[in-house]
Amino acid sequence: MSKQAGMNKITTAVIRDMKRKGEKISMLTAYDYPTAQIVDEAGVDIILIGDSLGMVVLGYDSTLPVTMEDMIHHTKAVSRAVKHAMVVADMPFMSYQVSVEDALYNAGRFLQEAGAHGVKLEGGREVAEVTKRITAAGIPVMAHLGLTPQSVHQFGGYKVQGKEERAAKRILEDAKILEEAGAFSLVLECIPAALAKEVTQSISIATIGIGAGVDCDGQVLVLHDMLGMFEKFIPKFVKTYAALNIQMKEAVNQYIDEVKKGGFPEKKHSF
Ligand code: KIV
Repeated sequence: MSKQAGMNKITTAVIRDMKRKGEKISMLTAYDYPTAQIVDEAGVDIILIGDSLGMVVLGYDSTLPVTMEDMIHHTKAVSRAVKHAMVVADMPFMSYQVSVEDALYNAGRFLQEAGAHGVKLEGGREVAEVTKRITAAGIPVMAHLGLTPQSVHQFGGYKVQGKEERAAKRILEDAKILEEAGAFSLVLECIPAALAKEVTQSISIATIGIGAGVDCDGQVLVLHDMLGMFEKFIPKFVKTYAALNIQMKEAVNQYIDEVKKGGFPEKKHSF
């Protein structure tokens, strides 16, 4: 029996409760129906259709080329599979920066067309107003601070953020501003563990860390990274729990070999 059978659906209320009780929150990305089904049946709390889609599925060098249509398409596939987890969709680059109206319209599409339960957007005080308006429309918002990949060119690369005192202070202030704006949770990416601990202890909403140490309220990883399916670049914070790239290549090699030698199909595969 799958772990999710008989389990309650994860909602913002459940996430708030988990933070209150000190129960760790597990989050993973998924981008399609079969992987979302596996991750959901395994019992993960939150499934994120991350705009990391651009890198690990679509083959871009960054998340910047990912469009609303890409995100809606993949969110629909994930939503069809999920029965237990909370489904959160990443708002792609430029879908929430141009105007509050645009942001509200695009956030609404994720719930109305694609079946998501919430959206995630990157940034600090500069997205506070947008966060407030989207939340006021009844759409749960997950915030994202630290290394926000959509700002990679401003950062000059994928670097740890919040190392200097001023930058750390700004992240802490931003976390409080986003909590006040109504965000129900906050991703902390690539910041010093001590800073992530301080942020986590300073706000009442759940922090979900990636490269932010063990003291966050939860953890998130990109599915293709943790399953060993994305070989191009493995960040220091990734733990690979499987080597599916090797297993997939072995299976494909065996198939090619059997086709070439006439070992496949066998009688039992034929009519
Ligand atoms: O796009 C993504 O997958 C993310 C997570 C790594 C938090 O933003």
